[in-house]
Amino acid sequence: MERLFSSLFSSLFIILFILSINLASSYATTTTYNVLSFGAKGNGVTDSTQAFAKAWAAACASTESATLYVPKGRYLLGSVAFNGDCKSSDITFRIDGTLVAPADYRVLGQADNWLSFEGVSGVSIIGGALDAKGSSLWACKASGTNCPDGATTLSFTNSNNIRINGLLSLNSQMFHIVINGCKDVHVEGVTVIAPGNSPNTDGIHVQLSMNVKITNCTIKTGDDCIPIGPGTKNLWIERVTCGPGHGISIGSLAKDLVEEGVQNVTVFKTVFTGTTNGFRIKSWARPSNGFVQGVRFIDAVMRNVQFPIVIDQNYCPHNLNCPGQVSGVKISDVIYQDIRGTSATPIAIKFDCSPKYPCQGIRLQNINLRHLKQEAQSSCNNVIGKALGLVQPNSCL
Ligand SMILES: *[C@@H]1O[C@H](CO)[C@@H](O)[C@H](O)[C@H]1NC(C)=O
Ligand SMILES: *[C@@H]1O[C@H](CO)[C@@H](O)[C@H](O)[C@H]1NC(C)=O
Repeated sequence: MERLFSSLFSSLFIILFILSINLASSYATTTTYNVLSFGAKGNGVTDSTQAFAKAWAAACASTESATLYVPKGRYLLGSVAFNGDCKSSDITFRIDGTLVAPADYRVLGQADNWLSFEGVSGVSIIGGALDAKGSSLWACKASGTNCPDGATTLSFTNSNNIRINGLLSLNSQMFHIVINGCKDVHVEGVTVIAPGNSPNTDGIHVQLSMNVKITNCTIKTGDDCIPIGPGTKNLWIERVTCGPGHGISIGSLAKDLVEEGVQNVTVFKTVFTGTTNGFRIKSWARPSNGFVQGVRFIDAVMRNVQFPIVIDQNYCPHNLNCPGQVSGVKISDVIYQDIRGTSATPIAIKFDCSPKYPCQGIRLQNINLRHLKQEAQSSCNNVIGKALGLVQPNSCL
C-alpha cells in the first residue's frame, strides 16, 4: 500500500513538473526596458541619445523577448545606431512618444542616418513619431551653399524579420525610411509627411531586399513615395496613398555597370493625388546588366497625376555621363491593370524604352485615363506588348 502511494505520488510529481515546464515556455517572459530608467527625459530638451543607446544594449543582450519602452513625451536624440548581433531575437520598440532631432541640421547632417538598425533579427517598431526637423536643411539646400546631404530618418540594413507598425515620420532631412539588404520585412500602417517641395525626402526606399511588404501606408512627401532600387525581389505593396510626391518608382537603374535586377513586384490598390508620376520605371541611358522582370501594377486611382504611367530608359539629365549611350537594362513582363483617373498632361501613357533592348511583354488592361482639356494620348518607343479590354487613351502597343 505504502509503495503504491509513493509511486502514485512520484508520478503525480513528474506530471506536475512537466506541466510547469510547459506553462513556463508558453508564457515566455518578456523583460521591459523603459528608457526613463536609463536616464532619458521626455522634456524635449535633454539629450537622450546615450540613454536610448544603453536601453538598446540591455534589450539586445537579453536572452528572452525584450521590450524597449518609450513613454509619452518628446525625446531629443542625436544619431543612434541600434546594432546587432543581439542575444534576443525578439525585440519590440514600443513608442508612445515622439523622438525629436536636434534643431540645428548640422548635428545630423553629416551622418548617413539618424536612427539606424544594422544586423538585427526579429525587431518590431510599434507606434511612435519621428520628427527629424528637416526644414532648416531644406532651406540651406534651397540657398545652395555647401549643405550636407542630410541623414535618413530610419534605416534598416542587413537585417531580417522586421516589422514597422503605426509609425509616423515627419520632415526627414533626406529619405524617411530605408530598407537595404533585408529579408522578411512588413511595413504596416505607416504615415510619412513632408512638404511637396522638400528636396530628396523619399518615403520608403527598398533595395537589395527580398520579401518586403508595405501595406496601409499614407505617404505625402517631396520625392518618390516608394523608390524601388536594384536587387529588390518579392515586393508587395498594397493600399498605399501617395501625394504630394513623385510616385512609385522602380529606379533609377543602370547607375552601375554591374547591378542586381528587380523582380516580382506587385503594387495593388494605390491612390495617387497630384503626384509627378504614378507608376514609373526609370533607368539611365547607360550600359548595365540590370533588369526588371515581373511587375504588376493593379487597381489604381490617379488624380491629376502628371505622368500616370511611364517607362523612361533614356534618363540623362543635363546630357552628362551618358551622351550617345543607351540603357542596358532589360525590362520585361510588366502588367498595368484597372488603372483609372486623370492625367495632368496630355501624354497619360509613355513608354520610352532602350533602343538596344526594347521593353517586352508589356500589358495594358482596363485603363481609363483622361485629360481634362484635351484627348489623352499614349506614346511608344521600342516597346513590345499588347492591350486588352478597354484601354483609354488608345494604346500605342
Ligand atoms: C489594412 O487596413 C485594412 C482596413 O483597416 C485592414 O482590413 C487590413 O487588415 C489591413 N491590412 C493589413 C495587411 O494589415
Ligand atoms: C512573388 O512575391 C510574392 C510576395 O510579394 C510571393 O508571395 C510569391 O511567391 C513570389 N513569386 C515567386 C514566383 O517567387
